[in-house]
Amino acid sequence: MRTYSTNLQLQKAIREARQAGHSIAFVPTMGNLHEGHLDLVRKARRLCDIVVVSIFVNPMQFGAGEDLDAYPRTPSADKEKLFAEGVQILYTPSCEEIYPEGLDTQTQVQVPDLADTLCGENRPGHFTGVATVVSKLFNIVRPDVAIFGEKDFQQLSIIRKMVLDLCMPIEIVGVRTAREEDGLALSSRNGYLTASERAIAPKLNEVLTECREAIACGFDNFHELEVHAQLKLIQAGFEPDYFEIRDARTLREVTEETEELAILVAAKLGKPRLIDNVRLALNPVSDWGMLSVPF
Ligand code: PAF
Repeated sequence: MRTYSTNLQLQKAIREARQAGHSIAFVPTMGNLHEGHLDLVRKARRLCDIVVVSIFVNPMQFGAGEDLDAYPRTPSADKEKLFAEGVQILYTPSCEEIYPEGLDTQTQVQVPDLADTLCGENRPGHFTGVATVVSKLFNIVRPDVAIFGEKDFQQLSIIRKMVLDLCMPIEIVGVRTAREEDGLALSSRNGYLTASERAIAPKLNEVLTECREAIACGFDNFHELEVHAQLKLIQAGFEPDYFEIRDARTLREVTEETEELAILVAAKLGKPRLIDNVRLALNPVSDWGMLSVPF
């Protein structure tokens, strides 16, 4: 595995790989890698000849109250994991490399609407930071394929839309959320949970799954389901930001055109704010739910 920290070095290596006829898959990360990230890397390996992984803790996607400095950084362990997975190129740019003129005058990539709802309401500017850094990384790496986790479903939707709107010739591939045995979605933030919070945390997925099952069984009062789910989370010790049943394509209210539901949750549990989602395909010829297929 070769590690580069400047754009020039990285682009030279990628040019050589291209000249040798290799296809390139890209997995952008902020490090502190867990099995969920490694699933993305494995998918990338199956899809292309060369896998490029970036580790860059992007200051532009952290809000005022969010502690950028406290974000967990584990570079040596990350390197070992990527090496063991057979990654060929690791890119670890500095902040100056990505934002040579600082953040204040940086051109921004905004994806309206999709970025304004759900997590976008509680974290203003967050998705502009994500879309901006991902588009910069895409322009630096110029991959054929880029891989993202479905756990950050809103982020994945925003990146798909950005690529479409800006005519970026990159295939975006989503990978199913990796979970602990008790259902908790893998996340760097799980490391902040105390032992007692960790015991409560799987409730998040439990409540999502119950909601999906209720809809699959034909229950179609979504508002009631959302309120009920929020109450359950509060009783368990969470502080929910939202629990929403949405159209998986638009991330807006479900309409008659909706083909797939996304049930999304964000809730604080002690220090960390956890997110998770499940989806449910709707059969257009059936009543909602009766012939729906859970993801
Ligand atoms: O999902 C993440 O880790 C980050 O948001 C990403 C996509 C690497 C951009 O900084």
